[in-house]
Amino acid sequence: MKLLIIGGNGTIGKKVASYFSLENEVVIAGRSSGDVKVDISNLNSIKSMFKKTGSLDAILCIAGEAKWGSFKDLKEKDYYIGIKSKLMGQVNLVRVGQNFLNKGGSITLSTGILADDPVVQTASAAMVNGGLHSFVKAVGLETENAIRVNVVSLGMVEDAYEKYKDYFPGHNPVPMSKAVNAYIRSVKGKDNGKIIRIYE
Ligand SMILES: NC(=O)c1ccc[n+]([C@@H]2O[C@H](COP(=O)([O-])OP(=O)(O)OC[C@H]3O[C@@H](n4cnc5c(N)ncnc54)[C@H](OP(=O)(O)O)[C@@H]3O)[C@@H](O)[C@H]2O)c1
Repeated sequence: MKLLIIGGNGTIGKKVASYFSLENEVVIAGRSSGDVKVDISNLNSIKSMFKKTGSLDAILCIAGEAKWGSFKDLKEKDYYIGIKSKLMGQVNLVRVGQNFLNKGGSITLSTGILADDPVVQTASAAMVNGGLHSFVKAVGLETENAIRVNVVSLGMVEDAYEKYKDYFPGHNPVPMSKAVNAYIRSVKGKDNGKIIRIYE
């Protein structure tokens, strides 16, 4: 298989890329590193990335940002960071990427536990995660050419524990092996329109 992993050099992405690299051709995309440069918040950047990669069997996005901050401080422009990057960035990856997938290919997006179990300062981040869950369920009804679209929703992962532990008091970090398995399930299984939740 030929896979494109956007965010394949990130905390989660590098573990997923290392698994798939064992037996597949993996192309890594990132904003500042990787085989191909892309900013998913920019539609033209997404289009030019796919022109460079050519046809693929799987597209994984393990990237996307949203602004964290207390509800009283979040301005309208702060919400648009998550809407442009994590939400529309991933929606546009599906819109454009489907045309570069071989028959039976898959697209796997990333959200997170905030969609179901938010913590403080995540009004914007939780909102885009929830929107993506609804998008994936709906788009799965309309994919053509046997293309599948799923989303992996993880809790705070082990490798990001130090960074996020104060935001998620008492949460059990998700072992990296379980995080990687969620992406394997989406790519190698038959799920379509599914939210693959791994929260501990
Ligand atoms: N860490 C967790 O515990 C956790 C749990 C649930 C969900 N998530 C979600 O999973 C995703 C990955 O998390 P992570 O912890 O692995 O993040 P990370 O370590 O910060 O890595 C993110 C990767 O995505 C790339 N990236 C960021 N913005 C991009 C953009 N606009 N266009 C293209 N590439 C971009 C970065 O590339 P550059 O370095 O080149 O900028 C980097 O390779 C995020 O959406 C995060 O919200 C994370």
